[in-house]
Amino acid sequence: MYTNEVMDHFTNPRNVGEIENADGIGTVGNAKCGDIMKMYLKIDNGIITDIKFKTFGCGAAIATSSMATELVKGKTVEEALKLTNKEVIDRLGGLPPAKIHCSVLAEESIRAAVADYYQKTGRELPESLKKSLEHDNAHGEE
Ligand code: FES
Repeated sequence: MYTNEVMDHFTNPRNVGEIENADGIGTVGNAKCGDIMKMYLKIDNGIITDIKFKTFGCGAAIATSSMATELVKGKTVEEALKLTNKEVIDRLGGLPPAKIHCSVLAEESIRAAVADYYQKTGRELPESLKKSLEHDNAHGEE
């Protein structure tokens, strides 16, 4: 049911924990299952130098978040905003259809943490981020 990559990231997740004095923190919940993801970013000169996550979520959420943190570490915040859950799933060799919604937590929590960073540093949110936050809010009220 799960690929070796998924099992690897689930049993040995990368970047679990929290960052003290993080530059951006994003917390999102999954409307389908009620699980929660919290993402912490350390950012220097627009580069994500460290990233950690904590979750009250299932194995697929852990594996996708672990992979997502690996993919954005060392990237610019703009590049991190382009990460999609599809890309994360591809890098993990796929997920069962019933578990696709779990992968969205990682993408959304990274975007929320970047938005927090933009707000804390007094920067204007990029249009793409504004739209996705509006969409997320609308989603949460469904
Ligand atoms: Fe909730 Fe997977 S079942 S994140």
